[in-house]
Amino acid sequence: MQDGLATPLASQNETDIALDMLLSRASVSPAAMTEPAPEGLDLNDILDAAMRAPDHGRLRPWRFLTISGDARHRLGEVFVAALRKREPDAADVLLERERTRPLRAPLVIAAGVHVDPDNAIPEIEQVLSGGAAVMNILNAAHALGFAAMWVTGKNTYDPVVNEALGFHAPDRLIGFVYLGTPNETAKAVQRPLRDDFVRDWSA
Ligand SMILES: Cc1cc2nc3c(=O)[nH]c(=O)nc-3n(C[C@H](O)[C@H](O)[C@H](O)COP(=O)(O)O)c2cc1C
Repeated sequence: MQDGLATPLASQNETDIALDMLLSRASVSPAAMTEPAPEGLDLNDILDAAMRAPDHGRLRPWRFLTISGDARHRLGEVFVAALRKREPDAADVLLERERTRPLRAPLVIAAGVHVDPDNAIPEIEQVLSGGAAVMNILNAAHALGFAAMWVTGKNTYDPVVNEALGFHAPDRLIGFVYLGTPNETAKAVQRPLRDDFVRDWSA
């Protein structure tokens, strides 16, 4: 499977399972997550799925940092420093919210893109490729039974956070994926109707 080109699924049953997985994915908020996070071979599979993102010019623009355990406290301090710079008078309760933000899930993947502004491939395509890689992370996590949610918020666009995580402009963060295991409060989300968003232009 790893090196295959278009590897056909072996049976109708496998096709159905793969499609069911895609058609049932839903974000699970960190509030509905618990331990364990994906690790080991599961985490490798999730990150390998990211490597399958479409990528114009083979730029491989996506970059990921896996942040678990005590490193989440360090990330929280980065969020605090960023808020202090944005809002020097920020209330303690808001600073505490940033400090504990990464602790809501057992694993946080910081996702970013290495942007080559001089490349013929437009910058937006480089960023889109990073977004597609994150989508594959969400799908792979779901396929393995894990909970995942992509969040941005102000931290993603804050230069203090970007610098602390090694994303020096024009490289940039595109978000944080929170990962864990769904708890019993995780709920199914209503999906929009396809026909409201799709029209057959050939008609
Ligand atoms: C680029 C991007 C950034 C997002 N940032 C946030 C965020 O900061 N906070 C949030 O609550 N949801 C955010 N979301 C939305 C959630 O990831 C999720 O898609 C939403 O809760 C709907 O759930 P669903 O994925 O099951 O449709 C973001 C989604 C995308 C694509």
